[in-house]
Amino acid sequence: MEFVFLNGEIIERSKAKVDVEDRGYQFGDGVYEVIRIYNGKMFTLDEHLRRFVKSAESIGISIPFTSVQLSEMLKELLIKNNLETGNIYMQVTRGIAPRNHVFPTGNVVPTLVAYTIKGVRPLESLKSGVKAILTEDIRWLRCDIKSLNLLGNLLAKQKASEAGCFEAIQHRGNDVTEGSSSNIFIVKNGTVITHESNNLILKGITKDVILDLCLANNIPVEERTFSLTELNDAEEVFLSSTTSEVMPIIEVNGKKMGRGVPGPITRKLQGLFEREIEKQCGLLVDKLI
Ligand code: PDD
Repeated sequence: MEFVFLNGEIIERSKAKVDVEDRGYQFGDGVYEVIRIYNGKMFTLDEHLRRFVKSAESIGISIPFTSVQLSEMLKELLIKNNLETGNIYMQVTRGIAPRNHVFPTGNVVPTLVAYTIKGVRPLESLKSGVKAILTEDIRWLRCDIKSLNLLGNLLAKQKASEAGCFEAIQHRGNDVTEGSSSNIFIVKNGTVITHESNNLILKGITKDVILDLCLANNIPVEERTFSLTELNDAEEVFLSSTTSEVMPIIEVNGKKMGRGVPGPITRKLQGLFEREIEKQCGLLVDKLI
């Protein structure tokens, strides 16, 4: 039997129902997080909870639980579902109210849902790398909020999928922003470069772990906007996300990146990232490096 967390209770998944007038369902009026589980433990949990609260606050939703309560409930959910490797998906919406663009007044309670998804590390892709396409970034100007509204991201990812690629690298004019569900990095003269965390991208938690690993291991980094030309000429390209970790990109729009195989700095970061996972969640059985 599978369990989900709904508004403070852990209940059977088949019994969890959401109202047709939930504002998440009608407007995408809410925010979410995806948290990676290794060895039954949550990786970078505090960072995810902080971003969850921050995203919610930025659209005026006050989560009716403290971070300590959330963390306890998520731990309980993991145990109930016996999840060893996979993800937790968690979202909060503004709640149930008659359909109206204006926020509801009175005591409308936010709807909070979390559930678990089994899934192993994408070891094959992590080893050999993936392909990407380029696409214009048509999203709104608050991409720093992890909003449920993902249509721009979905259209980009679908385009990638139809081209037989794993990810769509988005750009505003000549400036590369981020992937449809990941942050993008290039390596140029041995320096790791990634878009600064502002309103045009999501401040990825994996991105921040990678930046810290670079600093701690004397790998030069720059957080700044980079151009399509720089991407095109990069020695190495990779993406990062909770589910994809440090994923090499070996081809963009049919052109090989660097030597067309995962590069040495990407490999090094993959190794360092695995060590970070092991520090927080214990030894990995399915290691890459
Ligand atoms: N996506 N940028 C976008 C647009 C994203 O959707 C994500 C994550 C990231 C990377 O963030 P993080 O390292 O914190 O996972 C960047 C999640 C995994 C998803 O929507 O499934």
